[in-house]
Amino acid sequence: MKIIAANWKLQKNPLEARLFFTSLKEKLSATGAGHSTNEKNSGKNNSQQKKLVIFPSSTCFESVAQAVAGTDWEWGSQNCYSEGKGAFTGEISAQVVKDMGGAWVLLGHSERRTLFHESNEFIAQKLALVQSLGLQALLCIGETLSERESGKTNLVLKEQLQKSLSQADQQKALVIAYEPVWAIGTGKVASVDQVKETHQFVHATLLELGFSDRLPILYGGSVKPENTQELTKIPHVDGFLIGGASLDPESYSQIYLRS
Ligand code: 13P
Repeated sequence: MKIIAANWKLQKNPLEARLFFTSLKEKLSATGAGHSTNEKNSGKNNSQQKKLVIFPSSTCFESVAQAVAGTDWEWGSQNCYSEGKGAFTGEISAQVVKDMGGAWVLLGHSERRTLFHESNEFIAQKLALVQSLGLQALLCIGETLSERESGKTNLVLKEQLQKSLSQADQQKALVIAYEPVWAIGTGKVASVDQVKETHQFVHATLLELGFSDRLPILYGGSVKPENTQELTKIPHVDGFLIGGASLDPESYSQIYLRS
């Protein structure tokens, strides 16, 4: 199973979100890929199946929920608070995401860690809530350029995994996204060797921490149609988390088809 996830960040209004799906449905139907489990995934073994997940900004939840109704496409929130409800002005409730039909919550994106100073400990609390609600947590980890250049990549990733997953339930749904911070929105994609080595390390670390051998690990950071094919073949790359290229139905559908 490959997971092809779109992180729209703070882009698109509800109308633009609807138009995106109209166009995406046309593009995928034209190629025969369709948008229902039965059409698209029938007769395929697990390694050939694909799941499409969209993470819109919170003001687009409703239009995205409506647009994916009747398909096997899924959506989720880019963040949530560590409590499901209460006096927490401006926050996003994972409980409400679930009530609206969302299935996923993205946690620990580097923009949340850097711009909003989110700690691994805070991310761990949110992750525990997300899992307790039966939602899929997609945890992002990644090193900065200076951390990579000073040889600290593995150390940083291990600490992020250990601390952010300190309250995780090993029996519940979880997906990891490895996104090198220096490759996000820069056009600088990590090399095949870097992705191979790092995904292998993340996989081994998850095993060491007691998680399942089958826990999916996505790659994110300047993924485009042109680099999808070489990245998708790398062992332990179970899909992608795509920023910029996921905003355009043409490039997103191409990444989906080439994965
Ligand atoms: P880009 O694909 O624009 O580099 O963004 C990656 C990302 O941050 C996805 O979460």
